[in-house]
Amino acid sequence: MTLPGSTTASRSALEAAGHDQEASDYPPSPPCPPCLDETHRPDGHWRVAEQAALERLLAIEQRAYPWPWSLGNFQDSLRAGYHMPVLLQGSAQPEGFAASGCTVLGYAVAMLGVQEVHLLNITVDPDHQGRGWGRLIMARLVQWSLAQGAEQLWLEVRHSNTRAQALYQRLGFEAVGLRRRYYPAARSQREDAVVMRLWLAPSDGRGDECQAVVAQHAAHRKEHGHGLG
Ligand SMILES: CC(C)(COP(=O)(O)OP(=O)(O)OC[C@H]1O[C@@H](n2cnc3c(N)ncnc32)[C@H](O)[C@@H]1OP(=O)(O)O)[C@@H](O)C(=O)NCCC(=O)NCCS
Repeated sequence: MTLPGSTTASRSALEAAGHDQEASDYPPSPPCPPCLDETHRPDGHWRVAEQAALERLLAIEQRAYPWPWSLGNFQDSLRAGYHMPVLLQGSAQPEGFAASGCTVLGYAVAMLGVQEVHLLNITVDPDHQGRGWGRLIMARLVQWSLAQGAEQLWLEVRHSNTRAQALYQRLGFEAVGLRRRYYPAARSQREDAVVMRLWLAPSDGRGDECQAVVAQHAAHRKEHGHGLG
C-alpha cells in the first residue's frame, strides 16, 4: 500500500484521464437481491467510490491496517481522479451506496500513469477476507489497466505481508526491488517495502488469466444468482 502522491507516475496523465471518464468504466450495476441466507455466498458487484461513501471505506481501512490511510488520503485520491473501484454485496441504491443497506466487501485505489498503473491500495474487509474477493479485485484491476493501455502494473507491499505477496505472485507479479524503511512499524521502527511489477502485455496471457477469474465470477453469478464467495 502506498500513500497518494508518493509515487513518480505522471499526474498530468491522470488529470487527463479525469474522474468522470473513469466512472463510466464501471457503470452502476443493476440492483441485485441481497443474500439473506447464510448458506448463500455473497453477491459481488462494482461501483466507483464517491465522496459520501469514503467514511465507509475508512471504517474498513481502520480495521484492516495498523497504520491505515486517513480520510484525507481517500479524499486526495478522489480529487486526483484516481481509479477507485468498490466491490459491494447486496443491493445498492441508484443514488449511491453511502447510506444504502449494501455491504462494502473491498476496494482498491489505482493511479494511471504513462503506460503504467500504480496500485496504491487494495483492501478486503477483514470479515470477508479469504473468500476470493481480493483475487477478484486484482483481476478486475488488471482488466481495467489493460483497457487503459497500460503495459505494467506496479505496487509496494510490506516485507512481512506474505499473504498479500502470495496473492500477487499467483497473478504473475514479480518482486523487482526493495524500498528500505518505507513503512512505519511498531516501536518507532520502519519496515521495508517489496516493489512488485506485473507485465500486462496482452500476448503473454496475463490478461487472459485475470479475464478467467472475472468470467468465472460472472458465470457463477448468472447460474446461481449470486457471486463466488
Ligand atoms: C491481501 C488481501 C487484499 C487479500 O484479499 P482476500 O480476499 O483475503 O484474498 P483472497 O481470498 O482473494 O485470496 C487470494 C490469494 O491470497 C492468498 N491468501 C489468502 N488468504 C491467505 C492466508 N490466510 N494465508 C496466506 N495466503 C493467503 C492466497 O494466495 C490466495 O490465493 P488462493 O485462494 O488461490 O490460494 C486482504 O487479505 C486484505 O485486505 N488484507 C489487509 C490489507 C492488506 O494487506 N492489503 C494489501 C496491501 S499491499
